[in-house]
Amino acid sequence: MASPPLIIRPAELSDLDALQAVIQRAYRGRSASASWSHEGELPEGERVSRGDLEALIGAPDARLSLAEVAGHIVGSSLVVAVAPGQCEIRLVSVDPSFQGEGLGGQLLSHAERSAVEAFAASHAVIEVLQHKSRLIAYYERRGYRRTADSRPYPHPLRVPATFLTYRKELRP
Ligand SMILES: CC(C)(COP(=O)(O)OP(=O)(O)OC[C@H]1O[C@@H](n2cnc3c(N)ncnc32)[C@H](O)[C@@H]1OP(=O)(O)O)[C@@H](O)C(=O)NCCC(=O)NCCS
Repeated sequence: MASPPLIIRPAELSDLDALQAVIQRAYRGRSASASWSHEGELPEGERVSRGDLEALIGAPDARLSLAEVAGHIVGSSLVVAVAPGQCEIRLVSVDPSFQGEGLGGQLLSHAERSAVEAFAASHAVIEVLQHKSRLIAYYERRGYRRTADSRPYPHPLRVPATFLTYRKELRP
């Protein structure tokens, strides 16, 4: 039997409880440590607050999207227009039990298209923790290249961590 189709659509207020839970499972705690993209210590606490998600709905400079399979929310992506021609892609996440099936790739492609269509972006940037070599390889396979920009991870971890910025030129 064919598997149900993936739908990627804008997030609405009524989605936010389920969406926040999926993001939390992807980034934090025991479920996240089962992910292929997990490497090293996982931060604790909330990855994103409900208030922060609410503020993104309808924000003129942001597009928060979700992925849905058979009515269940299974992933997220966020595009933020950060400078003329430049969008940052954040919160690309897939529920760990749905990872490795191409959903992350589809969410990333969708975010890149939104950056072009909604904000006329010529390029996208993504911040990745320096020690996440599998994730960096994943973005490099999708055309992202390292820039000179970096910043320290803003929350305490046992080992200091650095965010590196990766950039991809987008086609209109
Ligand atoms: C990053 C993330 C969104 C990817 O989602 P996904 O649905 O697993 O992604 P896809 O199925 O599209 O792709 C899986 C990729 O992982 C690769 N992969 C699978 N298992 C792997 C492993 N053990 N080691 C290395 N790579 C592996 C696959 O080869 C595939 O890459 P390819 O398509 O280039 O061959 C997901 O892992 C996630 O939510 N991670 C936690 C949140 C996070 O870190 N987000 C990124 C923020 S910068």
